[in-house]
Amino acid sequence: MPAPMYQFAFRTVFSRMDPEKAHHIVVTGLRLAHRLGAGPLLEKLTAPDASLKTEALGMTFPSPFGLAAGFDKGALSVLPLASLGFGHIEIGTVTAQAQPGNPKPRLVRLVKDSALVNRMGFNNDGATIVRRRLARTTRQIAQLKRAGRHAPIVGVNIGKTKIVPLEGAVDDYLLSAGTLAPVADYLVVNVSSPNTPGLRQLQDIEALRPLLRAVREESDAAAGRNVPLLVKIAPDLIDADVDAVADLVTEMNLDGIIATNTTISRSGLRSPETEVAEAGGGGLSGPVLVERSKQILVRLRDRLPEDVAVISVGGVVTAEDVAERLRLGATLVQGYTGFVYEGPLWAQRINKGLRALRHSTVS
Ligand SMILES: Cc1cc2nc3c(=O)[nH]c(=O)nc-3n(C[C@H](O)[C@H](O)[C@H](O)COP(=O)(O)O)c2cc1C
Repeated sequence: MPAPMYQFAFRTVFSRMDPEKAHHIVVTGLRLAHRLGAGPLLEKLTAPDASLKTEALGMTFPSPFGLAAGFDKGALSVLPLASLGFGHIEIGTVTAQAQPGNPKPRLVRLVKDSALVNRMGFNNDGATIVRRRLARTTRQIAQLKRAGRHAPIVGVNIGKTKIVPLEGAVDDYLLSAGTLAPVADYLVVNVSSPNTPGLRQLQDIEALRPLLRAVREESDAAAGRNVPLLVKIAPDLIDADVDAVADLVTEMNLDGIIATNTTISRSGLRSPETEVAEAGGGGLSGPVLVERSKQILVRLRDRLPEDVAVISVGGVVTAEDVAERLRLGATLVQGYTGFVYEGPLWAQRINKGLRALRHSTVS
């Protein structure tokens, strides 16, 4: 669907609908289209140009641009989403135990800011079920590769089960890591969601060190290979804490950092205060994150060894935004909220724009 058509549909239909319901309708439609055989056709339109191939985390990504965690929490739509042109899909957050998440409504749009507020609370089917789905997806991806078709990299983002107390967090993450690492191209330890009470305390170095050490041992042992391991951080960390995480990642020889998750701040918004208050608590995402996300990217790139990946996420909308992050030193770039506002051909437009930008700087 071209951008003006989607924007019309968004204004007239989706924006009047509960955002979570709209999400389900769009994803169900996409999965149905895929099942009816639209995959190869879509791919012809959207597959990233070969010039966008990016080496990162010891793998070749078809494009530097991917879909951030949270959109496909249960690995239900990996291939349909990949057929829209994303170079990688990060599924999750998955927790060891299945859980329903917070009561609805838990996803709100702030249209004036092209932003979202979410307090989903890691609603997901749990590690065992997601592993089964991903095992099937992995086999399908291998077939795509053999056929020379667009095949995404699949990351798996893990978090803590809500009912497990913070003292039991390491064991809980270990269950997820052991279950999911064998079907993950890379693994992300999410300690930055604002919607699981206490989770962000795990960003403290003294809590993070033993957690990451244990997850790395467990995931490599379960998968029988070196599984690239990254940690995802919040934009609300102060600079000294960002530096401390960077130093820990360096000390432990981890593979990378994803920056950033959503923010609990509400500053910098254009939406009326009453609307912001009505949206309620949770994590804010979209262009309002741009400045802090870029600051953290630059800070991390400065402090980390070159071979440690930084995946930049937070507020990107256009190909120029993605190109800017890459110029600032991002290894890869992700987005989520832009997908909701820009529509199904978002990744395709970004890939096309990136290719054109590269072409114009070369010629
Ligand atoms: C509805 C929604 C759900 C999300 N769920 C997760 C999640 O489960 N795990 C996670 O690590 N990040 C989650 N995120 C955060 C995104 O992955 C991303 O870090 C953040 O939204 C900033 O990027 P954006 O401005 O492009 O959306 C979620 C974001 C949104 C909007």
